[in-house]
Amino acid sequence: MASETPSLVAKFPRTQLLYPQATPIHPLKRLSEHLGGKVNLWAKREDTNSGLAFGGNKTRKLEYLIPEALEGGYTHLVSIGGIQSNQTRQVAAVAAHLGLKCLLVQENWVNHTEDPETYNSTGNIQLSRILGAEIRLSSDGFDIGIRRSWEEAMKDVEVAGGKPFPIPAGCSEHPKGGLGFVRFAEEVRQQEKEMGVTFDYVLVCAVTGSTHAGMIVGFKEETDSGVKKVIGIDASAKPHQTREQILRIAKNTAELVGLGKEIKGEDVVLDERFGGPEYGIPSEGTLEAIRLCARTEGMLTDPVYEGKSMQGMIEMVRQGDFKEGSNVLYVHLGGVPAVSSYKNTFKDG
Ligand SMILES: Cc1ncc(COP(=O)(O)O)c(C=O)c1O
Repeated sequence: MASETPSLVAKFPRTQLLYPQATPIHPLKRLSEHLGGKVNLWAKREDTNSGLAFGGNKTRKLEYLIPEALEGGYTHLVSIGGIQSNQTRQVAAVAAHLGLKCLLVQENWVNHTEDPETYNSTGNIQLSRILGAEIRLSSDGFDIGIRRSWEEAMKDVEVAGGKPFPIPAGCSEHPKGGLGFVRFAEEVRQQEKEMGVTFDYVLVCAVTGSTHAGMIVGFKEETDSGVKKVIGIDASAKPHQTREQILRIAKNTAELVGLGKEIKGEDVVLDERFGGPEYGIPSEGTLEAIRLCARTEGMLTDPVYEGKSMQGMIEMVRQGDFKEGSNVLYVHLGGVPAVSSYKNTFKDG
């Protein structure tokens, strides 16, 4: 990367899964005007980052996990998430692309009000099935930690003579899970130079934590010097666990890349107001934000993740939390494939 600041991640092996060019950054002009025109809202489109089954933030993270899977002669990618997990859909696509088998544990993470047949057969899980993954439904509830069902799935692959490559929820507990979004920060820095724009705020949705954690490390120089603020918006509705996980991953990632600076608790800025009422359940405010963004910009967000971070950004603009004239970068991490499973929620649009 042609940047004056040396890359922190160039030394790590990476398997190209994203499109080779940087993901687009574009202004959200009509939304900015609708909200009073005092700040300039922009979006960086990780939801369009890859040709592999719509991509998203996990595809960027997987670029740094996959080299080990390929070099180690693994036969299966084994991963875990909720029934409508975006991560498992992206793992299924990457496995297909690389000619590996894929086993997915899909847990019952969401107390949704949708009809279960629709919820269990449309959206992400439908795509994972089309992509050829073997799917195991589990009745376990929402948890971002390491799970027994997932460990069992790996054992089963071994018993059948395969070699399972474990990919934890959100790639987050993997030691290299934070690297993709360190590279993301380097990409933004380069784009800022090319565009002649400095983003004063970067907004990112957080649940399992490694997206936000990678950005904390990648943007550490700018946040320390006051040029930038990275704000996570919790969508787990268990922000205590998410905050701890972000901090731990950011510390580990900083050490892994040789940042040379300590990551502290105050580096994790996590807004806890928009995750509720529960993981996977949108509030009225989230639904309003999804519709407003869709109807002013034609940009879709989902009720589990990006709708909540979109709500956070809109509320912060309304409350005057961003200084006048500032540039706010909303990072769109994907997630729209889940929308069709929210049939009742969106029956009237
Ligand atoms: C669309 C989308 N946005 C945001 C997130 C949150 O990212 P992370 O789990 O790295 O905190 C996820 C995954 O959990 C996601 O699928």
